[in-house]
Amino acid sequence: MHENGTILIADSDARTRDLASAFLTYQGYNVTTSGVAASFFDTLQKSNVDIIIADSAYLKTVASTFNARSSHFDPLLVLIVYGNSAPAELLKPVGGAVFTLAKPLNLDELESLVMRAREYQSMKSHDNLMDNSARNQIFSKTIIGTSSPMRELFDMLVKVADSNATVLIQGESGTGKELAAKAIHQLSSRHAKNFVPVNCAAIPDDLLESELFGHVKGAFTGAYTNRAGRFEMADKGTLFLDEIGDMKANLQVKLLRVLQNHEFEPVGASKSQKVDVRIVAATNKNLDELVVSQNFREDLYYRLSVIPVTIPPLRERREDIPLLIDTFLTRFNADKRHAVKGFSRDVLDILCHYEWPGNVRELENLVERLVILKGGGLIVANDLPDKYLSGRHSYSVPAPLQQSLLTAESQLPDEGMCLNSAVEEFENNLIRQALVRSGGNKKEAALLLNLKRTTLIEKLKKKNLLFNED
Ligand SMILES: Nc1ncnc2c1ncn2[C@@H]1O[C@H](COP(=O)(O)OP(=O)(O)OP(=O)(O)O)[C@@H](O)[C@H]1O
Ligand SMILES: [Mg+2]
Repeated sequence: MHENGTILIADSDARTRDLASAFLTYQGYNVTTSGVAASFFDTLQKSNVDIIIADSAYLKTVASTFNARSSHFDPLLVLIVYGNSAPAELLKPVGGAVFTLAKPLNLDELESLVMRAREYQSMKSHDNLMDNSARNQIFSKTIIGTSSPMRELFDMLVKVADSNATVLIQGESGTGKELAAKAIHQLSSRHAKNFVPVNCAAIPDDLLESELFGHVKGAFTGAYTNRAGRFEMADKGTLFLDEIGDMKANLQVKLLRVLQNHEFEPVGASKSQKVDVRIVAATNKNLDELVVSQNFREDLYYRLSVIPVTIPPLRERREDIPLLIDTFLTRFNADKRHAVKGFSRDVLDILCHYEWPGNVRELENLVERLVILKGGGLIVANDLPDKYLSGRHSYSVPAPLQQSLLTAESQLPDEGMCLNSAVEEFENNLIRQALVRSGGNKKEAALLLNLKRTTLIEKLKKKNLLFNED
């Protein structure tokens, strides 16, 4: 089977047939044609066709046999019909999907339908093949998150993984763009081949071209031997172009060419080289704005963002924070052979309210630092760097999370417990949370707890809770 797919173009009009055939061949598909109805089924069977592109008038001439033989069709066969009308009964036998197109044939529209058809097929076949445990492994161990934006992201990654379409991952710094790119590779049928990352911002402009495309001996001073570039290393695998927004204009043109023709020239070479590479690109810059300010080519932007994926910042999925903290704590305790037990409730509360401008990376670094410095015991508010303690935040812990925290704590242990101190602890906790949320303002905290200010102050004194007096 041809890796880009085999297409059968069926049309009695030679001009349209040849035009579509030349165009799709140039796009890298394996194309075969049929001009007369008599040869249609032979070609269909012999060539292992993935997609039929047919003129509706032609299709009518093969309709009766088409129906009769439908059980022989590949269940993923896609039919793209163009023309005035295609009778519904004609289309029914095709198990996969049917797309329709108006006449005269517009080649750009045709190409985009063919790409959709290929995505549909790889999605379906991958759905069938994909081992659930591999998915679970990635989404429970590598990319952590149970919030609904993250679950949507996981679904998206699974869906796009096996299509060859270029994916553009956007998101703030530290949101997990590289993790997502790796997940796409691991979930795809390319997983046994290389995942090759290139950080376009980290490599000096004059070296990036040879880094990407390689060079031949003597191409420039110091090029003593031929050297393969990252495109070649990623052949049959995935090339991850990180910080794509930093790529300079001259290289943008060259990249566009590889995306269009699947071929490139190593620096100094006279012949071009074919590659089969799946591109995943990422940036934390706003590419739309770069296009408007003419710092990023619009045509390249469209080529890259066939499938756009956006990873939401951590402050928009705060439900994930406790789970992330827990995961990092376990990891760093193990790595560093420390035994930090956990975080006090007020620390958790502070961290759930914080804005996280550095997203998951910032959280990961903070947990690592706390584990190293504390070494054991419980991490309390005093252990946090100042910036986490200052500032007031308006976010409130989502109801389901509050519920789960509370019910988890109100479990009666097997050995029994002291009700009075549990109630006391419960009360203290809510008072601390109210004070954290109000930035230490007792009047506001009292309002949150439906208490008089004086009552709250009395309680604080009695409990000897250490908050600054105002
Ligand atoms: N959902 C997540 N679960 C677990 N770890 C995560 C998650 N998201 C990010 N991380 C961790 O945070 C750090 C940053 O992730 P990554 O490098 O993928 O971010 P990025 O979006 O590429 O950041 P930048 O734009 O700064 O390059 C990594 O150490 C990664 O393991
Ligand atoms: Mg990154």
